[in-house]
Amino acid sequence: MINVDICFGRNCYANGAYDILPILNRIIKREGWEDKVKINGSLCMRECSNEKDISIKINGKLIEGITLDNIRLILNTELKKLI
Ligand code: FES
Repeated sequence: MINVDICFGRNCYANGAYDILPILNRIIKREGWEDKVKINGSLCMRECSNEKDISIKINGKLIEGITLDNIRLILNTELKKLI
């Protein structure tokens, strides 16, 4: 099982962390990964930046530079490496 942790801390929330959930759910459903990917919410990961980044960890590894503009491409690419 691949664990995707999404930060719902104050800064990531302000950058759109909650908007990532439906995007990620659509990717999982489209690819048929329902039994392979588990989504978890997280408190602040202590990775806050001044950019528009949203902190997401996949199997404990921070994926840097995720924003609402590139989330589809990055998550799709990162998850396909592991599945
Ligand atoms: S609020 Fe997400 S890393 Fe701090």
